[in-house]
Amino acid sequence: MKAPFPKLIELPAAPLNASPAPELTSIHAARRRGPYGSSKYRGNCGGYLIRDLLRYYQPRRVLDPMTGSGTCRDVCKELAIPCVSMDVRFGQDAADANLYEAVGEVDFAWLHPPYWRQIVYNDDPRCLSNAATLDAFFVRLRLVLRNCRSVLTPRGKIAVLIGGYSDRGVFQPLPHLTVAAAAQEGLRMAATEIIRLQYGNTSSSRTYRSSFIPGLHDQCLVFESGRL
Ligand SMILES: C[S@@+](CC[C@H](N)C(=O)[O-])C[C@H]1O[C@@H](n2cnc3c(N)ncnc32)[C@H](O)[C@@H]1O
Repeated sequence: MKAPFPKLIELPAAPLNASPAPELTSIHAARRRGPYGSSKYRGNCGGYLIRDLLRYYQPRRVLDPMTGSGTCRDVCKELAIPCVSMDVRFGQDAADANLYEAVGEVDFAWLHPPYWRQIVYNDDPRCLSNAATLDAFFVRLRLVLRNCRSVLTPRGKIAVLIGGYSDRGVFQPLPHLTVAAAAQEGLRMAATEIIRLQYGNTSSSRTYRSSFIPGLHDQCLVFESGRL
């Protein structure tokens, strides 16, 4: 029987409003990654969502504490926004508060952490992908959120891109747990969650013997200071 769902789905119309980035809605579907960062870096994201967020929030300075291949750094370069980047692969642990003394104030932090151990990046015990348990992952993610918040201006925002996945047979709803962890750090959601459709994932071209509901997206969660 033919599936009743079309391959191409028209997005619902978004209401007109005063947004400086009207294309930015709760669904982000960019088929290409743009000339930012490197597609070869595992678990990298494209640059268009970051670009839309920066056009929307218009920060004067950005912090990118888990830069990977530098996608956020490259978007900032294009938009001429100063950006401070760090990564544990360069020896900088974003969970270490001492590193932030040199950062100075920022209006926006782009945080793209490992999705726990879905991809293990290296064998550095400080890397979040090496956290032995989910609790240990969130202990360290909370430290990173706390550090980012410590350098945020009062109107500043922290955007976290993260997705849920099945870890050894147990589904881990990392975005939901991140909202709870952020609340523990005095951060509340500043806008709707943004569902980012993931095109070209390695898993999309594989065939599996087991049955599951494939996840085709991750989520971008934007936080600001303030209790719920
Ligand atoms: C999902 S990747 C980021 C990819 C990046 N958005 C890009 O486009 O290439 C996660 C990154 O977090 C880094 N990382 C993990 N733990 C870290 C820590 N404690 N401090 C700083 N960076 C960390 C990893 O080395 C990895 O590069």
